[in-house]
Amino acid sequence: MKLGVLTSGGDAPGMNAAIRAVVRRAFALNCETVGFLHGFNGLVKGEWRKMTQASVAGIIQRGGTILRTARSQDFIEPAGRDAALRTLEKTGVEGLVVIGGGGSAVGAMALDAMGMPVVTVPSTVDNDLLGTDVTIGHMSAVNTVVQSVNSIRDTATSHERIFVIETMGRDTGHIALNAGLASGAESILIPEMKTPLEDVSKRILNAHARGKSHSIIMLAEGYGHGFDVARTIQATSGLETRVIVLGHLQRGGSPLASDRIIASRLGAHATDIMVGGRHDLQVGLVSGTLVETPLEEVCAQRREISLDIYDLARSLSG
Ligand code: F6P
Repeated sequence: MKLGVLTSGGDAPGMNAAIRAVVRRAFALNCETVGFLHGFNGLVKGEWRKMTQASVAGIIQRGGTILRTARSQDFIEPAGRDAALRTLEKTGVEGLVVIGGGGSAVGAMALDAMGMPVVTVPSTVDNDLLGTDVTIGHMSAVNTVVQSVNSIRDTATSHERIFVIETMGRDTGHIALNAGLASGAESILIPEMKTPLEDVSKRILNAHARGKSHSIIMLAEGYGHGFDVARTIQATSGLETRVIVLGHLQRGGSPLASDRIIASRLGAHATDIMVGGRHDLQVGLVSGTLVETPLEEVCAQRREISLDIYDLARSLSG
């Protein structure tokens, strides 16, 4: 059997480990692998290369994706999808593994409906996909945020300031919530909880009255812009407030061991089920067990945040 593999959407630490797992498991099962470049654009434009054991050597520790990635506009159009299918037929690929987030799952489902078997591997820093406890790259991104907070606390304490730290996450708050819990942020602002900024200011003022020297507000981009939030907090609290927008730093860097492990397990499992004749599925890890979820379910809804974790983070922050 000949398999295709591509990475699509925003890159995430651990994507390379997933590519490696697909290629190496395919090799172990006597399958050939073709890597398509620049996400679905590579299918539309016919950009591909043969993958070998050697072409995935030395990449498990590297962030980004050796196959490059893109958010393909062409693939949204029917003409682009037809061109993609023609490329797949030309290369002799009989099944495709798509490594990416929610948008990639939608593209994958469309291709599968056109007759090309597809299995997806959930990989996005946003952690917003159903059918898995965590997506590849999320914990590495959270770790980058937490390390940044470690540094910012030094200057925040010295100047006795408030810092608003804006994280990624699109319209979900998973990164801000997990990073907020892990760094002991004094407040967490996420789109799922419409916390009024006046309440945040009151909470911070109470904490300062008890002797706190500084405060960290962990903000998800989906809640609002960091500079707007900081302006309101400074106006309502009267305390000096600064902002840091972490941006794409969160998507880079060497993946944590936990992401490499998940990526290796999910990449290999995607290959196994594809070779076994099953498709139109996303692979995932739930309570440590490999599971598959129909792509229709994955695309229908985004993963919700855990209210328990939100309440815990709030109750533990002083
Ligand atoms: O989906 C991943 C993500 O990093 C989001 O958190 C963020 O909103 C978006 O991608 C940024 O996209 P781009 O890299 O295209 O600016």
